[in-house]
Amino acid sequence: MTFNPLKEKGMPLEKQLRNWHQIVAKPYKKQKVDCYTRTRQILMNGIEVEGWGFKHQFNRFMSEVDSDDKATISRLGRIENQQQMTCNWLCPADQSVLETTLGYEQVAVDLTAWLAQNEPDEYVKETFNFGLLEDFDHLYRYSQFAYMTEGIEPSDIVQGQTDVIVGRPTQHHHNCNGLRLRNFYDKNTASPQTKVNILTVLSGEQQTHNFYAEHGFMYADHVLRETYAEIKDVEEEHVTMYESLIDPSESMFEKALLHEFTEVCNYYTCYEDETDEEIKKYWEIFLDMEIGHLKLVADMFKKYEKRDPEEIIGSEIVIPCRFTSQKAYVQKVLEKEANKRLAPDGKYYKNYDEIPEDWASYDVQERLSEISAPSENCIKLIEIYHDRDIVEASENLKNKEVTILEKGLQTKAVAHNTVMPDDLQDMIDKHEQREKQKEEII
Ligand SMILES: [Fe+2]
Ligand SMILES: [Fe+2]
Ligand SMILES: [Fe+2]
Ligand SMILES: [Fe+2]
Repeated sequence: MTFNPLKEKGMPLEKQLRNWHQIVAKPYKKQKVDCYTRTRQILMNGIEVEGWGFKHQFNRFMSEVDSDDKATISRLGRIENQQQMTCNWLCPADQSVLETTLGYEQVAVDLTAWLAQNEPDEYVKETFNFGLLEDFDHLYRYSQFAYMTEGIEPSDIVQGQTDVIVGRPTQHHHNCNGLRLRNFYDKNTASPQTKVNILTVLSGEQQTHNFYAEHGFMYADHVLRETYAEIKDVEEEHVTMYESLIDPSESMFEKALLHEFTEVCNYYTCYEDETDEEIKKYWEIFLDMEIGHLKLVADMFKKYEKRDPEEIIGSEIVIPCRFTSQKAYVQKVLEKEANKRLAPDGKYYKNYDEIPEDWASYDVQERLSEISAPSENCIKLIEIYHDRDIVEASENLKNKEVTILEKGLQTKAVAHNTVMPDDLQDMIDKHEQREKQKEEII
């Protein structure tokens, strides 16, 4: 495959303004939509939010840009804003906040797993694997509430493509923010693939944070509200972690190029992969628009930096994510790395048994969970409703749940309401006994 977007014509900016009827598209049907159409829709909303926000930052901070170019950036920002509405509002009104939440965490798991396997930089790959296991556990925690609150089976949303089972427990995702900061890539040697991968996952995580911030209060259940607060706080750490991988010495023009290139690459992939013919039309139009954006910022890059844009983005497109089931890869990382933690120095990772007593994240964890950890309470609650937690995975993985929990749990800064491995085993046994009793009665 060779596709050099800088050589394509793209839609001229003058033709990109759309009317309200075109902006507000017909939503998909939640009962019929393919889960990966929904993940594309969720991800592209996040990418557009980032594209829109970046243009405002650009115009706020850039004094050396002439007024014509500032006007172009601001017109581009309006188009990103319109695209964002179209993407986000493909979501139907009857898709509940919890259903959409499961979609967001499915994006995080399957996107990050794909990126990790297609990431040329080993350090960045390790960071993707680290973040992956946290979103994997979020999916499990929210799935308990989806069942208790709305009777939703996780498979109604993830359609059996993503496993739902305990990961690295959410209460252990809280860290000293300083420890979340990673080493950044070198802008002169990092590949366009690495740059696009990071910007893609960062946009997704940032929007996940925003979605929980704006919707977590929409449920009356206090434990659920607290769980949204807890997981939103982890998404804040994910934004901190992924953005810190970016070389801060990239110029704003370089960043502008990378933003448009990331949009081009993502829409290109969405267009190639989409199975819903109606939604595919939007990916096609938006790809054409983004090629137009890329050409405009490439011209600015040449004008102000006197450099060739291909030095930054290369001469062909990269594929940031093909949404497909990642169960085998995720299981492998889960079994190997549930006990990983942020190292106290050097911006690397360590297994939990190598973490020192004075690890800075302990203070954060002890403070946040001093009353209780909401993400543990949700398992306590589901025990009342259902005898045990809701799990969707192969029998092979299900049988390892207690072992995974044992591996992921810390011995220090553990919330007093934690479901310990023995508790989980009791729940599983109790559930089996009740199922047998049921069969006898029936
Ligand atoms: Fe856009
Ligand atoms: Fe998450
Ligand atoms: Fe996340
Ligand atoms: Fe754009």
